[in-house]
Parts: sequence; structure tokens; C-alpha cells
Amino acid sequence: MTRVKFKIYLVFVLLLGFMFLLLPMAARGTNGQSETQHKKKDEKKRKASADETSADLAQRIYTADASQYVGTETCKTCHEDIGKTFDEGPHWKTLHDKHGVQWQGCEACHGPGKEHAESADPDKIIRFAGLSREESSKRCLSCHEFGEEHANFLRSQHLKNNVGCVDCHSVHHPRVQRQLLRAAQPQLCYSCHLERKADFSRPFHHKVNEGLVSCTDCHNPHGGFLTRQLRATNAQDTLCFNCHTDKAGPFAFEHAPVKTEGCVSCHEPHGSPNPRLLKRANVNLLCLECHTFTVDSAAPAIPSFHNQAQKYQACTMCHVAIHGSNSDHFFFKP
Ligand code: HEC
Ligand code: HEC
Ligand code: HEC
Ligand code: HEC
Ligand code: HEC
Ligand code: HEC
Ligand code: HEC
Ligand code: HEC
Ligand code: HEC
Ligand code: HEC
Repeated sequence: MTRVKFKIYLVFVLLLGFMFLLLPMAARGTNGQSETQHKKKDEKKRKASADETSADLAQRIYTADASQYVGTETCKTCHEDIGKTFDEGPHWKTLHDKHGVQWQGCEACHGPGKEHAESADPDKIIRFAGLSREESSKRCLSCHEFGEEHANFLRSQHLKNNVGCVDCHSVHHPRVQRQLLRAAQPQLCYSCHLERKADFSRPFHHKVNEGLVSCTDCHNPHGGFLTRQLRATNAQDTLCFNCHTDKAGPFAFEHAPVKTEGCVSCHEPHGSPNPRLLKRANVNLLCLECHTFTVDSAAPAIPSFHNQAQKYQACTMCHVAIHGSNSDHFFFKP
């Protein structure tokens, strides 16, 4: 589009936007319109008060006295099916918690249930649907925040983007009983990270779809201090060393970028169109990102006899121990 055409287009779009702003103002005068608006408002209010009930209950929970609790057996009399899944899942163990009734069974999550059990009024019990992701996650964390795995959930990329425990876990209706997951990996992750699915469909990839490696080997879905919710620092590469122990060194002759910039300076961690998950199709192009024929880069210059004739293009044919060597300065042998 030329500049002038673009300007005209912009003015048109602005005018259209202005008209849309005026339209509802004009409509407000008519009676029918205001009535439906009232209805909508009431509905909103009711919804808000229902939300508040669950949230308020959630606030009150740990201050409520023991007489507000009826115990899991009472809940089961009306919620038979859920009672069954509760017994089959891991949370029956909370029944043995010695800190008091508020940490036991159904009411450890749903809050004191006396009023609800007497009235069967669903507004008198904490419904997770009525809680924000942060509120509901905090309820789970009251028991699960201890230990490195979950300690950082509140600052995770997931919660910051409104993804809470209940998005990945289902307490009552899990697809995967172990760990109460809503779906098995990697499908669970792909359900939101569809674009990552393409990574693992490339010709060379970590065998995540095949079940050999899982997303959570490298990422902590519960968050952490590190970028990309990685389980270990990327630059230090303890992440990759978990499985590729032979690359860990220390080597007498280190190849600097392995230690300073990490494995991902040369490899795609998920998948790549190139063998060995390399970032570049040709090894020489990869090396030439850092090594040049002039000396003014951080990496040593390639000697001038390395003309780019065929012979010198397959760098790792000669520099075989590219991740570091214990015997050779130039990585000619391990
Ligand atoms: C006297 C029977 C009865 C008892 C006892 C009872 N409930 Fe309920 N509960 C109901 C009924 C009826 C509903 C409304 C059902 C519906 O909306 O589908 C309900 C709804 C709920 C809901 C909301 C469901 C939703 O759709 O969001 C939760 C949560 C709940 N009960 C948990 C409990 C817990 C926890 C206990 C024990 C403290 C308990 N109930 C005891 C009858 C009972
Ligand atoms: C570990 C926490 C936890 C415990 C323990 C627990 N619930 Fe729930 N419950 C939830 C969550 C979370 C939901 C919201 C459903 C969802 O998002 O999967 C829920 C939903 C419900 C619902 C709504 C209907 C449904 O099928 O989702 C009912 C009813 C209910 N729970 C009753 C109970 C009863 C009865 C017990 C004890 C036998 C119990 N819950 C124990 C966390 C818990
Ligand atoms: C009252 C304390 C308490 C609360 C609240 C609680 N849990 Fe648990 N949770 C437990 C206990 C205890 C276990 C069993 C641990 C074990 O087997 O060692 C457990 C187990 C689990 C497991 C299975 C772990 C595994 O290895 O299979 C998951 C997943 C889980 N909880 C998720 C949740 C979620 C999601 C919530 C909030 C909706 C929640 N929990 C709320 C105490 C709690
Ligand atoms: C983005 C998805 C996701 C979210 C959000 C999430 N989890 Fe998990 N959780 C998982 C997966 C996947 C596993 C299995 C991890 C594995 O196999 O290494 C797991 C494992 C667990 C386990 C068992 C592992 C262990 O350390 O014993 C517990 C307990 C648990 N989650 C609780 C929670 C709680 C509580 C929350 C919210 C504060 C939460 N999860 C939020 C995906 C998630
Ligand atoms: C309910 C949707 C949902 C599910 C399920 C989910 N995620 Fe996420 N995830 C998000 C959102 C939203 C973000 C933040 C936006 C973004 O970076 O894409 C995020 C962020 C991340 C990040 C950080 C990205 C960054 O740029 O820092 C990683 C890593 C991640 N998720 C891994 C996983 C893994 C592994 C699983 C499966 C165990 C999973 N996610 C399941 C929605 C989800
Ligand atoms: C072998 C380890 C490994 C596995 C397995 C893995 N990742 Fe990653 N992932 C990484 C690394 C390392 C990064 C950071 C890349 C960077 O900084 O350039 C990353 C980045 C991400 C990001 C941030 C966006 C991006 O591309 O930079 C998301 C989201 C993500 N991974 C999701 C997933 C999901 C979903 C799975 C499983 C289907 C998965 N990862 C499996 C190592 C892994
Ligand atoms: C959970 C274990 C695990 C982790 C963590 C892991 N890998 Fe792997 N990796 C494997 C396995 C297993 C293979 C070989 C199997 C296959 O996919 O064919 C592999 C293959 C590779 C290959 C290709 C090897 C070849 O011969 O084609 C490269 C390159 C690689 N990984 C780099 C990395 C990097 C970089 C990281 C860190 C971001 C990492 N890996 C983390 C398990 C792991
Ligand atoms: C300077 C670039 C560079 C860095 C940094 C690097 N690699 Fe490599 N890596 C390569 C090249 C080039 C190959 C292919 C070698 C060949 O063609 O024989 C390779 C091959 C591999 C292979 C498959 C063959 C083998 O030797 O097992 C694995 C696995 C691997 N790298 C893992 C890693 C891990 C883990 C790290 C981080 C510790 C890492 N790489 C860092 C360049 C690099
Ligand atoms: C991310 C940047 C980077 C990439 C990519 C890279 N290197 Fe290096 N390489 C360096 C740095 C920096 C040094 C310098 C280490 C030092 O000064 O101790 C080095 C050192 C070397 C040395 C030792 C030279 C000497 O005098 O110590 C050789 C040989 C070498 N690289 C070959 C390669 C080959 C072959 C490739 C491609 C497979 C490659 N490098 C890819 C950054 C890189
Ligand atoms: C045919 C074998 C061969 C191939 C292929 C090869 N090199 Fe070399 N390389 C050598 C030799 C021999 C030396 C010189 C060692 C010495 O000075 O003793 C060397 C030295 C180097 C040095 C160190 C220079 C210095 O003085 O510190 C770098 C960097 C290097 N090569 C990079 C590369 C890169 C990048 C490629 C691919 C484009 C490559 N080499 C391909 C044989 C090869």
C-alpha cells in the first residue's frame, strides 16, 4: 500500500470507529433497550454476589470454628459419585491430617460445609468456578506450596497469565489418575501451546510425542525463578546435562560458548529441520556466526588456510570434539 492510500484508509477507519461510539448513545433513549440493559445489570450483579460468596467463604475458611464443619462422610451422603472418586484419589490422605478438621477431606478445599449440608444451597459452599485463578490456586497451595516444585507458583508465567492449578489438574474427574491431570502430556501442554507442537513435528526433535522425553523434564509447569520456567539454568546447562552427561565436562580445553552461552547457542532445544537439532543447516555457517576470517570478534579467527573450498566446510570432520576436549586445544580429538 502506498503512503497516501494508507492515510485515506486510516481516516476512514477512524470515522467508522467514531460512528460505532455514537450508536449506543442514540439507542439508549428507547425504552426496550434500557429494560434489557437493566436485566443484564441484574444478572451481572447476581453473578458478582455469587462470586463474592465463594471468595468470602474462601477468606473465612481457616478462621471458622470446628462446629462449622460436618465431615466428609456427611458430604458423601448427597455427593455419592464424587465421594467415590475422592476415595480413589490421593486426597483421602488429608483425612488423617492432625491439624484439625479444616485441613481434612472435602472441606479442606470447599470450606466449612455445615450451612450447605443443611440447606443444600450451592451458594453456601466454596465453588471453584466462583473463584479467580489466583484464589483457587492459593487454596491448593495452602497444602502444596512447600518444596521447590511448587514454591514459586504465585510468580509463575502461568499464574501471571491466569492459568491456575485447576487448568491442568482435575481433582474429581482426571484423565490421568496419577497426578490428577486433565490430560496426559504432551497433549495437556499442546492444548494451550499449539505453536510448540510444530517444533516437535520437525524432522529432528526430542522424542516428546513418542513419550521418551516430556515437557516437564525441562520445564517446571509450576514456575520458578528461571526464564521460560526452565528447571535449571539454561546458560549453565545443568538442564541438558541431566541426560547428556557426557557433555558436562569439565574439559581441559573447553569450547567457550558451551559454558557461556549454553547449548541453545548452537542447538534448538525442541526440534529442528537440521540433524543434531542444529540451528543452521550447514555446520560451517553455524561456526561462522562467531568465528570469522578477521580477528575482530570474541572468538578466534579461522586461519586463512581454511578457505571455504569444499574441504573445510565440514568443520566437525576435523574439530570432532566440538563440546570440549581433554587432550586437544583445537578439539581434534576427545
Ligand atoms: C443434603 C444433601 C447435601 C449435602 C449433605 C451436601 N451437599 Fe453439596 N450440594 C447438594 C445439592 C443439592 C447441590 C446442588 C447441586 C447442583 O447444583 O448440581 C450441592 C452443590 C454442591 C457444590 C456446588 C456444585 C457446583 O455445581 O458448583 C459443592 C462444591 C458441594 N455441593 C460440596 C459439598 C460438600 C463439600 C459437602 C460436605 C461439606 C456437601 N456438598 C454436602 C446437596 C448436598
Ligand atoms: C483437593 C481439593 C478438593 C477436595 C478434597 C474436594 N474437592 Fe470438590 N472440587 C474441587 C475442585 C477444584 C472443583 C472444581 C472442579 C474442577 O475444576 O475440576 C471441585 C468441584 C466439586 C463439585 C462440583 C461438581 C463437579 O463434579 O465438579 C462438587 C459437588 C464437589 N467438588 C464436591 C466435593 C466433595 C463431596 C468432596 C469430598 C468427598 C470434595 N468435593 C473434595 C476440589 C476439591
Ligand atoms: C488439605 C491439604 C490439601 C489441599 C488443600 C490440596 N491438596 Fe492436593 N494433596 C494433599 C495430599 C496430602 C496429597 C497426597 C500426597 C501424597 O500422596 O504424598 C495430595 C495430592 C495431590 C496430587 C497428586 C500428587 C501425586 O503425586 O499424584 C495433586 C495433583 C494435587 N494434590 C493437587 C491439588 C490441587 C489442584 C488442589 C487444589 C484444588 C489441592 N491438591 C489441594 C493435600 C492437599
Ligand atoms: C500448566 C499446567 C500445570 C499447572 C498450572 C499446575 N500443574 Fe501441577 N503438575 C502438572 C504436571 C504436568 C505434573 C506432572 C509433572 C511431572 O510428571 O513431572 C504436575 C504435578 C503435580 C503434583 C505432583 C508432583 C509432585 O511434586 O509431587 C502436584 C502435587 C501438583 N502438580 C500440584 C499442583 C498445584 C497445587 C498447582 C497450583 C498451585 C499446580 N499443580 C499447577 C501441571 C500443572
Ligand atoms: C490452560 C493453558 C495452558 C496450559 C494447559 C499450559 N500452559 Fe504454559 N503457558 C500458558 C500461558 C497463557 C503462558 C504465558 C504466555 C506465553 O508465554 O505463551 C504460558 C507460559 C509457559 C511457559 C513460559 C514461556 C515463556 O515465554 O516464558 C512455559 C515454558 C510453559 N508455559 C510450558 C508449559 C508446559 C510444559 C505445559 C504442560 C505441562 C503447559 N505450559 C501447559 C498457558 C498454558
Ligand atoms: C530438552 C528440553 C526441553 C523440552 C523437552 C521442552 N522444552 Fe520448551 N524450552 C526448552 C528451552 C531450553 C527453552 C528456551 C529456549 C531459548 O531460550 O531459546 C524452551 C522454551 C519454551 C517455551 C518458550 C517459547 C520459546 O520457544 O522460546 C515454551 C512455551 C516451551 N518451551 C514449551 C514447551 C512445551 C509445551 C514442551 C513439551 C511439548 C517443551 N517446551 C519441551 C527446553 C525444552
Ligand atoms: C530428559 C532427558 C533429556 C534432556 C533433559 C535433554 N535431552 Fe537431548 N536427547 C535426549 C534423548 C533421549 C535423545 C536421543 C533420542 C532421540 O531423540 O533420538 C536426545 C537427543 C539430543 C540431540 C540430538 C542427538 C543426535 O544424535 O541427533 C541433541 C543435539 C540434544 N539432545 C540436545 C539437548 C539439549 C541442548 C538439551 C538441553 C536444552 C537436551 N538435549 C536435554 C534426552 C534429553
Ligand atoms: C558451539 C556450538 C555447540 C554448542 C554450544 C553445543 N553443541 Fe552440541 N553439537 C554441535 C555440533 C556442531 C554437533 C554435531 C557434531 C557432528 O556433526 O558430529 C553437535 C552434536 C551434539 C549431539 C549429538 C552428537 C553427540 O556428540 O552426542 C548432542 C547430544 C549434543 N550436541 C548436545 C549438546 C549439549 C547438551 C550441549 C550443551 C552442553 C551442546 N551440545 C552444545 C555444536 C554445539
Ligand atoms: C556462539 C559462538 C561460537 C560458535 C557458534 C562456535 N564457536 Fe568456536 N569458539 C568460540 C569462542 C568464544 C572460542 C574462544 C575460546 C577461548 O578463547 O578460549 C572458541 C574456540 C574455538 C576453537 C579453539 C581455538 C583456540 O584457539 O582456542 C575452535 C577450534 C573452535 N572454536 C571451532 C569451532 C567450530 C568448528 C564451530 C562450529 C561447529 C564453532 N567453533 C562454533 C565461540 C564459538
Ligand atoms: C581439514 C580439517 C579442518 C577442517 C575441515 C576445519 N579445520 Fe579448523 N583447523 C584445522 C587445523 C589443522 C587448524 C590449525 C591448528 C594449529 O594451528 O595447529 C585449525 C584451526 C582452527 C581454529 C583455531 C585458529 C587459531 O589459530 O586459534 C579455528 C577457530 C578453526 N579451525 C575453525 C574452523 C571452522 C569454523 C571450520 C569450518 C568452517 C574449520 N575450522 C574446519 C583443521 C580443519
